[in-house]
Amino acid sequence: MSGAAPPPPNPPPARAGAGSLKDGGTVVPVREILWGESAGVRKFESAEELPGDMAKLIVKLMVVQADTEFASIQQHRPWLDNAPTLEDRWIEARIVADEARHGLQACRILRDFGESGQQYIDELLAKREGEHKLDAFNMKFDAWSDVGAFTCFVDRVGVYQLRAFQECSYGPLARAMPLMLSEEQLHLNFGASVLRRMVQDGPKYSGSKEEAQAAVRKWYPRALDMFGHSNSETSRRAIEWGLKRWTNEEARARYIQEVTQLTASIGLELPPADVDRHVL
Ligand SMILES: [Fe+2]
Ligand SMILES: [Fe+2]
Repeated sequence: MSGAAPPPPNPPPARAGAGSLKDGGTVVPVREILWGESAGVRKFESAEELPGDMAKLIVKLMVVQADTEFASIQQHRPWLDNAPTLEDRWIEARIVADEARHGLQACRILRDFGESGQQYIDELLAKREGEHKLDAFNMKFDAWSDVGAFTCFVDRVGVYQLRAFQECSYGPLARAMPLMLSEEQLHLNFGASVLRRMVQDGPKYSGSKEEAQAAVRKWYPRALDMFGHSNSETSRRAIEWGLKRWTNEEARARYIQEVTQLTASIGLELPPADVDRHVL
């Protein structure tokens, strides 16, 4: 087959088999590749089945994924016992536990690639603050507003990246998505609520509207950079292989649309999308 079929906007979840679950029926998981050059063929289910270049790309994507998860634990750590309210501290602890589980999940996929996968895991675990792949994960959370803007903007990019893998052509990766996505959704909702409370309640809660606005200016450009280069050959190949649903630029455009509305609803402003950018 040649040419990439257009990716479906919403991949179907596992299909209901005969009868409903309540009546003792079964759920049939999606077994075939849903888009790209191998659409209709059975998904790849193990590392050994993958063509070489596709295996390399999955390893690369999982190394970056795990790196961001472990890095964010280091960023959140000082706020476990400095977040302004008891509830905020508890949510911080939960976020850290979630990110650790996401890192573990990405590493389990890497483990399936044998010795080389294990080598990547060892390197990932040795990385300290400032040594990570993406800029957004080498910046400290100096104030509580950083926690709010990071979880609102940077975790939200994470959700776009994970959604791009939903029902992808590599079964183990596709199956890791639903739980990760539901947990990430909580993180970014929390981020928006932190910013909203800072704007509405100011020092009665924590910081001020000005602080929240400064944090938006600090994190939004780094969040936009995370989508990668606009004309990335890798992201084009990832779609052809049925791994990702969107190009970097398509995902970034959708994201900008979403956060433009959200930020305005909080009472804050986004800088123009080309200000302070490093990856275009
Ligand atoms: Fe995560
Ligand atoms: Fe997260």
